[in-house]
Amino acid sequence: MPSAPFVSQGHAAGRYTAQVRVLPAASATKYQSLVFSTKLPIGALIGQFHTLRASESPGPVYLMKRQEDGWRFGIVRADGNLDAELEPALCQRCHADARSDSLFGLPLSELPDSDAGN
Ligand code: HEC
Repeated sequence: MPSAPFVSQGHAAGRYTAQVRVLPAASATKYQSLVFSTKLPIGALIGQFHTLRASESPGPVYLMKRQEDGWRFGIVRADGNLDAELEPALCQRCHADARSDSLFGLPLSELPDSDAGN
């Protein structure tokens, strides 16, 4: 199940709506209730799917895959090709400041049992 759509704060300066999908299911559950000490297991795969807010056309998919020695980053562009220009160090640097395990998690208003939504 993808998350409810939200405006991405982290990628492309607010130009994208985003939805997140996580595999396997056990990792998805952990991701949904991310707290400071959350760590996803090796093999966990996270995709953040983007849509351009202005045109509603599909944008890139940003990927993170958990390996033994940390996260791998990738982008599938809207045209279906892998992004050969990707600079994983850029992804990594910003994500290193994230809440837990280089993960930001969903906005509070999108969490299943949150009463912070509207
Ligand atoms: C300037 C900071 C920044 C950079 C650079 C960045 N991200 Fe993110 N990323 C975020 C933030 C903040 C979120 C939380 C959701 C949102 O606002 O988009 C996020 C969410 C994600 C998620 C969902 C998992 C999570 O952390 O909750 C994935 C997957 C992801 N980013 C992949 C990437 C990839 C791949 C790159 C490099 C191409 C990248 N990110 C570069 C800030 C960044």
